[in-house]
Amino acid sequence: MARIPPAPSEFPGTGVNGNGINENIKTQEQWLRLMKTDSCESCHQIGSKGTREIPALFNSLPTSVAKWERRIQSGQAGTAMTGGINALGTRRALAMFADWTDRIAAGEVPPAPPRPQGIERNVVITQWDWADPKAYLHDEIATDRRNPTLNANGRIYGAAEISADYLPVLDPVTHTAHRVPVPVRDPNTPYAAPMQGFQASAYWGSEAIWTSKGNVHNPMFDQKGRVWFTTRIRGNDNPDAAFLPELTHREALERGLKVMDSTALSLCMDNALPIHVFGLDDERNIGRVVRGERIGTIISTGREEEE
Ligand code: HEC
Repeated sequence: MARIPPAPSEFPGTGVNGNGINENIKTQEQWLRLMKTDSCESCHQIGSKGTREIPALFNSLPTSVAKWERRIQSGQAGTAMTGGINALGTRRALAMFADWTDRIAAGEVPPAPPRPQGIERNVVITQWDWADPKAYLHDEIATDRRNPTLNANGRIYGAAEISADYLPVLDPVTHTAHRVPVPVRDPNTPYAAPMQGFQASAYWGSEAIWTSKGNVHNPMFDQKGRVWFTTRIRGNDNPDAAFLPELTHREALERGLKVMDSTALSLCMDNALPIHVFGLDDERNIGRVVRGERIGTIISTGREEEE
């Protein structure tokens, strides 16, 4: 029902001083991609009651556009939403969303979808609330993807990401849920979500409802039916750590940096063989390095030493 800016007349965007669509948006498809896949709907639906109706909290604002501008700043995801609107082009996006909710408030409804037909009528969907109202589910795992019969009818394990430090566990056979606490080792580990500096929510006021420190992600089953997940156990601010984009073999040896053992390092030095050190914790980094992107640390023998 939202009136998506029509192609081709409004694209490419001409920015804040032009038609209000971000200059990076060249086509209507790119606009739709952000709305449907990679921005707004990567977190939540657009069209649910909470998005298509403007809460009373914002009634005092003069226009629907002003209400939209304020409502998307609500809560700990407010900065992400404001950034998402900006990626579309704030002025044009707010005008589109405001027009959409104005028409809904005036009684407009989308065409009714057809009732399920044929075998569609055999589908039964069961939904469970298996965490708590202040947590959200980032992802979940029910099997080993390489062997999808593993854990048939077994428990399902969720990851609440930056919202809560426990794994929600669901037994879909007995319809019961329980929690496995995921504590951090260092109690001073920072919170994963911003705890202040956001606008009040129509639902939770100024309460910071997301309180995770561990930021549990990516639960996975292995072939033995064991569940693995990633979580943070301490902060990453080591006061001695510093990023060194470039250094020479000699510096690496002298500073005793444990890039590799010193024999290998000096062999590289003698043969003027550069070393590229980068994090494999992010698997996209391999592609970045192959494409020649400048990430990580390059250890090479400076020209002076070669001469
Ligand atoms: C990082 C996750 C995230 C992204 C991305 C995101 N949202 Fe949200 N959105 C939320 C959360 C969380 C809430 C609930 C805020 C609250 O507690 O009041 C919300 C609430 C809303 C609301 C209801 C606000 C109200 O009036 O109470 C609207 C409308 C909305 N989002 C629109 C958008 C649009 C449009 C985009 C894309 C430009 C977007 N969101 C992207 C997480 C996100």
